[in-house]
Amino acid sequence: VAEPQVEGGDDGVRRRDFINIAAVSAAGFGGVAVLYPLISQMAPSADVLAESSTEVDVSAIEPGQAIKAIFRKQPLFVRRLTDKEIAEANAVNISSLRDPQTLAERTKEGHQDLLVTMGVCTHLGCVPLGAAEGENKGEFGGYFCPCHGSHYDTAARIRKGPAPLNLQVPEYEFTSDTVITVG
Ligand code: FES
Repeated sequence: VAEPQVEGGDDGVRRRDFINIAAVSAAGFGGVAVLYPLISQMAPSADVLAESSTEVDVSAIEPGQAIKAIFRKQPLFVRRLTDKEIAEANAVNISSLRDPQTLAERTKEGHQDLLVTMGVCTHLGCVPLGAAEGENKGEFGGYFCPCHGSHYDTAARIRKGPAPLNLQVPEYEFTSDTVITVG
């Protein structure tokens, strides 16, 4: 269980998420499990890691706030956009983008305010800074990567700098009104 960091809001407000390393399916690995009963005591293999998922309670993320969680050992950003940020993201001429995607394509239907992305710059893998972080020098209101100066907008789309692609939106779904399951 990891306590995600809260940015852009009341430091006293604690969030909780649940890191679930998916158990290896007995059905899928039954034969192997019989032959190698010690496998469960070993460090998670790449295959197990690839099957892992992360649950994040998004209920307490206020507009303008983001939380950081961990998904498959990498940073995960979950940000609640303000109405202004949504408007900014939707006002962009999509054809002008390096990696053209609308905000709607990067969010779930009916949840355009909740942006879920990997916190991994698509240039060389640094962790970008969020808009609320003091050192953020981003020009487009979203994330800024301090390593070589990539700027991402409020939909976490690359707008300037060397990164070739938008911050990746991982596979996820709402498993309740307030919880998303990533992976
Ligand atoms: Fe982010 Fe190079 S790693 S700009």
